[in-house]
Amino acid sequence: MEKKDYTEKNRQAWNEASLKHRQARSKKGDPILQDGFLDLDETIISYLREFGRVEGARVVNLCCNDGRETISLKRMGAEECFGFDISDEAIKTAMDLSRKTGVECKFIRSDVYDIDPGKFPPSDLAFISAGALSWLGDLDGLFQIVTGLLEKGGRLLIYEIHPVAWLLEEAPPENPLQISGSYFKDGPVITQGALDYVGNEDYDGLVNYSFDHTIGEILTSLIRAGMKIEEFRELPGDVSAVFSHLEKMEVRLPLSYILCAKKEG
Ligand SMILES: C[S@@+](CC[C@H](N)C(=O)[O-])C[C@H]1O[C@@H](n2cnc3c(N)ncnc32)[C@H](O)[C@@H]1O
Repeated sequence: MEKKDYTEKNRQAWNEASLKHRQARSKKGDPILQDGFLDLDETIISYLREFGRVEGARVVNLCCNDGRETISLKRMGAEECFGFDISDEAIKTAMDLSRKTGVECKFIRSDVYDIDPGKFPPSDLAFISAGALSWLGDLDGLFQIVTGLLEKGGRLLIYEIHPVAWLLEEAPPENPLQISGSYFKDGPVITQGALDYVGNEDYDGLVNYSFDHTIGEILTSLIRAGMKIEEFRELPGDVSAVFSHLEKMEVRLPLSYILCAKKEG
């Protein structure tokens, strides 16, 4: 299967999930509608503040889903924010949230690989987080787009699930430390299952294709794209709610990471 075919299947699967997200949020209320609410966790908020990465910055948020993180980055003081996502339904919600909150962000429905960096003003910060990277199979292609979107001296910040966490079971199993997957995988992980991480509804979802990247692959791809890796911080906290049961264990594992890379020269 070609990259385009995976993406098309994933677009359909994420449209299906985005409708579920909208329904779940309309039932339980949506905190992003409260003035000043940030849909980012304390770890990344403190990191962004500590290094002053957002204030006054032009930001691109890749795989932004329904724009909650993009809106939060704008609320944290970004000057301009662009959010990109493949899902029509997620982008529809993002635009709606931008209108309802009065937080101005530009949302674009696009496959990340179809972004033409020449059409956007160069950014200071590219932000990718929480379950985004695993949908993007071609890391070299991704980081080329990212470097194209960044200003010289601009930074890419990835706050993601650690590949070690993907070795373990998602739902709290009997033995949470039982390794149930391989670190090295060829080809996509093919799943037919629910992607609803808001209402956590279990449904027979459309088939979707995700990709497990090793740390070595991510770092090497960034280096190949000409990015200078400034920081790679491995963290024991969960970024996704998928592995939160592992946070409480005595054995401390790397569950997430923050990777900061700078576009040079
Ligand atoms: C787990 S969600 C991202 C979550 C996001 N960090 C958040 O908290 O809202 C993954 C997103 O990646 C998007 N996606 C998957 N493949 C994509 C692609 N090729 N280009 C753009 N977006 C893509 C999906 O539509 C989905 O919204």
